[in-house]
Amino acid sequence: MGWSSGDKEETIMDVGCGPGRLTRQFILPCFPNLKEIFAIDAVPEMIELAKKLHPHPKVEYIVANFEESSLFNQWKGNLISSFLSNALIV
Ligand SMILES: C[S@@+](CC[C@H](N)C(=O)[O-])C[C@H]1O[C@@H](n2cnc3c(N)ncnc32)[C@H](O)[C@@H]1O
Repeated sequence: MGWSSGDKEETIMDVGCGPGRLTRQFILPCFPNLKEIFAIDAVPEMIELAKKLHPHPKVEYIVANFEESSLFNQWKGNLISSFLSNALIV
């Protein structure tokens, strides 16, 4: 499967990355022109696990709640090409 949008460098946001297994083993290989993945999860323990179990130089694991609008100011100036969501947002 390929989700890449072409030859352009891509910055991806993975929402609800949990312990990072899918981020590293599934999402990352889908983007051959990947610049960076911002992988976020609202639960700090998940991000700690992800950093420990599935580190990668192109993946930045961040504790963040997708529902907080201030979150996006952190990425001001970064082009987010795609959002991949595993989170249940109610
Ligand atoms: C079903 S798990 C999926 C974990 C991982 N993506 C996987 O497939 O193995 C959903 C994850 O979304 C996170 N989550 C739920 N609501 C969130 C929100 N509003 N912002 C960020 N993460 C959230 C949870 O903490 C949980 O780790």
